[in-house]
Amino acid sequence: MTGKNQKKRQVVEFGDFQTPSHLADEICHCLLAEGVRPKSVVEPTCGIGGFLISAMAAFEHARKFLGIEINRAYLRVLEQKLRQADRKRVELRHADFFQLDWEDILPHLPEPILVLGNPPWVTNSVLGRIRGSNLPIKNNFQGHRGFDAITGKSNFDISEWMLIHLLDKLQHRRAVLAMLCKTAVARKVLKHIWTRDFSISDTRLYTVDAKAHFNVSAPACLLVCRAGPPAGAKACGVFSGVSTARKISAIGMHEATLLADQKKYKKWSQLDGQVPVAWRSGVKHDCVQVMEFIRREGAFVNGLGERVDIEDEFVFPLYKSSAVAKGLTNRPERWVLITQKSVGDDTRIIRESAPKTWSYLTEYADELDQRKSSVYKNKPRFSIFGVGDYSFAAWKVAISGLYKRIQFSIIPPVDGKPAMVDDTCYFLPCTNRNEAVLCADLLNSKAAREFLRAFIFWDAKRPITAHILKRLDLRALAKMQHKTLYGPCADAEISASQFALF
Ligand SMILES: C[S@@+](CC[C@H](N)C(=O)[O-])C[C@H]1O[C@@H](n2cnc3c(N)ncnc32)[C@H](O)[C@@H]1O
Repeated sequence: MTGKNQKKRQVVEFGDFQTPSHLADEICHCLLAEGVRPKSVVEPTCGIGGFLISAMAAFEHARKFLGIEINRAYLRVLEQKLRQADRKRVELRHADFFQLDWEDILPHLPEPILVLGNPPWVTNSVLGRIRGSNLPIKNNFQGHRGFDAITGKSNFDISEWMLIHLLDKLQHRRAVLAMLCKTAVARKVLKHIWTRDFSISDTRLYTVDAKAHFNVSAPACLLVCRAGPPAGAKACGVFSGVSTARKISAIGMHEATLLADQKKYKKWSQLDGQVPVAWRSGVKHDCVQVMEFIRREGAFVNGLGERVDIEDEFVFPLYKSSAVAKGLTNRPERWVLITQKSVGDDTRIIRESAPKTWSYLTEYADELDQRKSSVYKNKPRFSIFGVGDYSFAAWKVAISGLYKRIQFSIIPPVDGKPAMVDDTCYFLPCTNRNEAVLCADLLNSKAAREFLRAFIFWDAKRPITAHILKRLDLRALAKMQHKTLYGPCADAEISASQFALF
């Protein structure tokens, strides 16, 4: 391996993104403004010490600063940066976080303690790929069951493990933890400590622009947790930024579910799913170039730019996520080859009923056979996924799981054929236009959108999921909307057919 590649690998393995001093300064000032007045400050993965240096300036009365780091060269850089006057207050330790005994370290630190910093940005699966060993000893801290627990294979961020471990050790001390991390990590940590009733009295999340500060494209934040017996409901204030700290919402918890917006949930909790509705995913094939077509001069053209001469029988109109999210579902721009009526069907029937389609599939068998997803393993050749009776419902009401908007679109049939949506969309199958219009009206109502917003973390990779959609009780929503329109005594007037749907 060349020196440059070795360095790159090291950066990945140790999740090494040093915090710029201006951000460390801003964070320390934010903590001061929050009333944090530590007697000691610990940076458990201190790197070249951006945070320690800022903290020494901000927390003048702190008596002890402890910096721990695995990379000896970084500690040497930090040592050079320390002012003579500060040296007496600082202890630097060369150590591996995963080998440290915090029960031994913490009692020697004057309280209140501030644990400050920016733990490594790397996941165990990335470490697995590069054969890295910067990991905790196998520990099923997420409480997985079955196969995942046995193999220890479940994916987690190293920082998630570190934060939970630190909070566990800090919870019965006078201490504050303030750490930069991905917002997805912060949410998992909150869920963990709330589910297990950690003694954490107050939590806050300040959004941080990771692209600007670290050139990393992951949504990030400063997570602040104060140790102590919890007072009141489990809630975490979400603030717009570290220096312009405007509260934008509060993350909360309802039973085992993390809420993106506690206030919205309280307002609309009567819509929380008593009557689950079968939301379906769109069709999955993992081979766009072969399985999807556009129409050019009356002919199908595949993703390789080739004209494709096949029968119509297995070709269906298709709306991709972008079209569904924008409500452009009246005229399809794509078509898709649907080789099965339900998962596992024998595809050889195509050979008899549509020989040109079969020979097209055979021509591209290599591409189709190479699809990596395990859902195609031991399945008939040319199989697809996410297909069933529901895929062939004449009408659908669909939403994209990827886009940052709540827009339910009606998907009408095209020339008598049901239209499909891709596997990043979710839909409700409907038998006729009236049903689809009723569903779409209900789902696009203010009440439904606000209810869903209570669960949606917009910075997640797939903000809208079937799990969230299933929470919305369409029956309760229909009843509520009906009352709004026709007054409080209208229950009796709701026709059975309206409810038969849900
Ligand atoms: C995201 S950087 C942050 C550095 C520093 N805290 C800052 O904010 O600038 C993560 C740091 O963790 C260190 N690190 C990674 N794994 C470690 C481990 N197991 N024990 C101690 N330090 C570790 C890396 O060398 C790197 O300096």
